[in-house]
Amino acid sequence: MSRSERKWDHIRFALKNGQERSSTFDDIKFIHHSLPNISVLDVRLDHSIGELYLSSPIFINAMTGGGGEKTYRINKELAMVAKETGIAMAVGSQMAALKDKTQKYTYDVVRKENPSGFLIANLGSEASPDQAKAAIELIEANAIQIHLNVIQELTMPEGDRDFTGALRRIESIVNEVKVPVIVKEVGFGMSMETVKSLGSVGVTLVDVGGFGGTNFAEIENRRREKSLSFFTNWGIPTPISIIEASSVSKDISIIGSGGFSNAIDMVKGLAIGADAIGVAGKFLQILVDKGIDSLKAEIESLHEEMTMIMTALGARTISDLKRLPIVISGETYHWLNQRGIDTKSYSQRSF
Ligand code: FNR
Repeated sequence: MSRSERKWDHIRFALKNGQERSSTFDDIKFIHHSLPNISVLDVRLDHSIGELYLSSPIFINAMTGGGGEKTYRINKELAMVAKETGIAMAVGSQMAALKDKTQKYTYDVVRKENPSGFLIANLGSEASPDQAKAAIELIEANAIQIHLNVIQELTMPEGDRDFTGALRRIESIVNEVKVPVIVKEVGFGMSMETVKSLGSVGVTLVDVGGFGGTNFAEIENRRREKSLSFFTNWGIPTPISIIEASSVSKDISIIGSGGFSNAIDMVKGLAIGADAIGVAGKFLQILVDKGIDSLKAEIESLHEEMTMIMTALGARTISDLKRLPIVISGETYHWLNQRGIDTKSYSQRSF
């Protein structure tokens, strides 16, 4: 099967499987206060994450490109939505264009559509620094994501089987490219150990890509004759992964992603440690099923709802959310305490 056919398979199966929502978010609860002393007009959604400044904490996460006309159209439409709503956007892995120059147009359309937007390049951890530079140049990217997707590759019939040297390659990319480097998972989450290793080679931006949304083990299993079903439930749920990752170091900024589909989960994700929220599958589904205007309306409504929730909480900024007391229960409570993270530091923080 060609790379281009595989890209389309991923979109087709991601749409067919639909979007789960990580029920683990129900383990995170805000505490209601009746005197927030704030107006909706006081709430600001813009926020800095490490050296990046984003006008909205929500962004369109990496999905596609490299699969000919259909992926060109999706990237073009996502870029139009990103421009009109003022949010950042990542493209899917650009290796396809680095290996086959005829695919370049499926990616550089995002810069053509959104000349002054915040755009993020994407490659896997097999990439060299020169490839990373080429991917950045192709879309004049403001940042680059390097994705880690071991479980997806193992489940993919034609996937990689050798994962040695990834950390060293990431280190060279961090040292050699001129834009910020975000290392991301693709729906299996990152542990505190992974984040520590990444921090040790100079990574300061991590997207946890947690379990609970698009499930690439399930997608790849649909493309296999004999299913590796043990990978279907593999991974660290998104909220747990955000908390593990943000416990590592104040010098590492965390992006939350994996199963975000509504405003309350997004505000929870920010309150437990994320500085931005990436959404992939849910936005793709709306775009393909209902079109550009519906996706635009969805993003605008997410912004409005986040503002309402922050007003109820008395939080003027994304940074304020990180000082609100939060009660963590259920599986998330047990997981975190067994991993040595004291959940009282969340329930007893004060604002
Ligand atoms: C993805 N994702 C992805 N990630 C990446 O780093 N490079 C890529 O090329 C792709 N390709 C891709 C295709 C499709 C169709 C989907 C739906 C997703 C993964 C994506 O960025 C994200 O990490 C996961 O999908 C989890 O987030 P959601 O979908 O649960 O919001």
